[in-house]
Amino acid sequence: MATNRTFTMIKPDAVKDNHIGGILGMIEAGGFRIVELQKVSLTPERAGQFYAVHKERPFYNDLVQYMSSGPIVAAILEKDNAVADFRTLIGATNPANAEEGTIRKKYAKSIEANAVHGSDSDENAQIEGDFYFSK
Ligand code: CMP
Repeated sequence: MATNRTFTMIKPDAVKDNHIGGILGMIEAGGFRIVELQKVSLTPERAGQFYAVHKERPFYNDLVQYMSSGPIVAAILEKDNAVADFRTLIGATNPANAEEGTIRKKYAKSIEANAVHGSDSDENAQIEGDFYFSK
């Protein structure tokens, strides 16, 4: 059953380029409530843990290096059908394929520096949110 929460990160390139406000604005305009929010720097070890599911992928080492290259903004978001609706709002992983009006269409630079992360399932939304915000 779909839950009403998802998890996102604004990635280092978008933070560096001063797009935190623009991206959070699109998120709120998209009907999401920001439940938790934190700006934080990841060590390579923490970035590697977060993306451990991609450990065997050829892009893993570059991804870990990139995600620890500068601060990110982590957030838990709330809306009905949050996971699916947020993936629609951010657009395709590769910005070359991202639809008009999506966050990645506007802010992503490449398939790696693609501005934002969005959870791909309710289960991962819970795990990824807990990674930053478990109390
Ligand atoms: P994200 O949705 O956070 O999930 C995995 C990340 O790996 C992805 O966004 C990109 O930042 C990065 N990545 C780099 N190369 C690829 C690739 N070829 N396919 C998928 N993800 C990639």
